[in-house]
Amino acid sequence: MMNAARKAARGLIRDFGEVENLQVSMKGPADFVSSADLKTEKLLCQELSKARPGYGFLLEEGGAVAGSDTSNRWIIDPIDGTTNFLHGIPHFCISIALERDGEVIAGVVYEPIHDEMFHAEKGAGAYLNERRLRVSARRKLEEAVFATGIPFKGRPGHEQFVADATQVMATCAGIRRFGSAALDLAYVAAGRYEGYWESGIRPWDIAAGIVLVKEAGGYVTDMDGKGEMLTTGEVVAANDHLHSSILKLLNTARAAKS
Ligand code: IPD
Repeated sequence: MMNAARKAARGLIRDFGEVENLQVSMKGPADFVSSADLKTEKLLCQELSKARPGYGFLLEEGGAVAGSDTSNRWIIDPIDGTTNFLHGIPHFCISIALERDGEVIAGVVYEPIHDEMFHAEKGAGAYLNERRLRVSARRKLEEAVFATGIPFKGRPGHEQFVADATQVMATCAGIRRFGSAALDLAYVAAGRYEGYWESGIRPWDIAAGIVLVKEAGGYVTDMDGKGEMLTTGEVVAANDHLHSSILKLLNTARAAKS
């Protein structure tokens, strides 16, 4: 997974350089970025198929592709943080997860600009490059920084987001919206954020990051406190001290709205 991510990242870095040029052109970089997305996804699929022939795929661009091996499938987002990439903002990544018999058991989130390779395997810990990761030790909400995703045009949940943020901003040290869910989760695993929440999120944005947080000692659930993040599209991740507190705040926001 790491080899595939590194290989695909070479082209992505070149393409990002080109986006920075196109950003100021009349035509803009949109078409170029969609072809970079597709090209990266294709290369990742080729590399992973070479290493593990027969595994299936769940792809952001290409959808579900059945494999001859029905136990294993890769869940891939070739560019998580596409809006950042499109705008020349250097905060995006490649996200690859391995799902085995319905359970995500390994994840790689590679941020190529700073060469940060986040990786984790169930039972074997989470790492940033060679360094073992552990979620943050902060216990107080008023010292905690949370990341989130803000729904944009064409996505539901705008009012709910405002209700959620109203609860969280009144209680914690800060909210960040950096634009890549996979990196948000990786940063929770690395102890940079105390937590992260988002609704209306897709499996390829969060599958790899979920393993990272769990293996770094954190908690990840949906809004009901259950493990159905990939099917509900809801995710609440935090260190072990603060997960129940953030979940309670979000549920208060939900109860107040309904
Ligand atoms: C998006 C990013 C963003 C999140 C959106 C996702 P994409 O993924 O992860 O942070 O807020 O919900 O769709 O489109 O860049 O792969």
